Amino acid sequence: MSSQTRKALVAVIGGSGVYNIDGLENARWQTVTSSFGEPSDELLFGELDGQPLVFLPRHGRGHRLSPTTINYRANIDALKRAGVTDIISVSAVGSLKEEYAPGHFVLIDQFIDRTFAREKTFFGTGCVAHVSMAHPVSTRLMDALEASCKQLGLPYARGGTYVTMEGPQFSTQAESFLYRSWGADVIGMTNMPEAKLAREAEIPYATVAMVTDYDCWHPDHDHVTVEAVVKVLTANADNARSLVKTVAPKIYDRPLVDAQGGDHALEFALITHPEA
Ligand code: ADE
Repeated sequence: MSSQTRKALVAVIGGSGVYNIDGLENARWQTVTSSFGEPSDELLFGELDGQPLVFLPRHGRGHRLSPTTINYRANIDALKRAGVTDIISVSAVGSLKEEYAPGHFVLIDQFIDRTFAREKTFFGTGCVAHVSMAHPVSTRLMDALEASCKQLGLPYARGGTYVTMEGPQFSTQAESFLYRSWGADVIGMTNMPEAKLAREAEIPYATVAMVTDYDCWHPDHDHVTVEAVVKVLTANADNARSLVKTVAPKIYDRPLVDAQGGDHALEFALITHPEA
């Protein structure tokens, strides 16, 4: 394995409650077009301690887009075109486990995709590829996130399964019980197909899930309200921002190839080329 390194261009995709990165030097919003349609917003380019960073608010500034109407393909394509080498995703989630109380951070390592109304691949027609999603998260990025959580003294768990539901309605109690019976840890509405598309685009991806509520399975919290979610989000926005600022410098020097994280993922995929 090569020990060569290169400079990373880190992107942060901010979820609900994270629409900006303060303290970004030389910050400028720039349009990056995509042949897959409209990204959620312009990309915010800037530097943190002299290191380049790109930020994309997943729902757009002003929270204009619902989880279903986000153009995930255009978002990942725009980041790829901007030269992004690594993605850190920040997402609000509901907890499916007693021990993950609101305010906890879960460093996700697995996903269950229950979405059904989104474009999920760059390889729909003409050229077919089947990338591996067995290990959807870059261990290197997760290590950096864990080191940052420790450094900041944040309550966190390393490893967890994120169920992605279509939404926009929250789950019924029967669904919430079902996801718990599957052993899932948290539930959200946006990380799929984002993680799948990042893999197809050969960009290592990791996600930090910020718990805002207990969904509706918990005997003391039998339904979710947007008000409760927003309250926790607001209280924890500073923690999320600190996490982003702490993690970026840790991944600035990255290996030339992060094969486990998905660099060169297409080399191991089955591809049918139209001319073949
Ligand atoms: N995002 C935040 N809380 C959620 C929940 N309980 N279900 C789905 N998405 C969420």
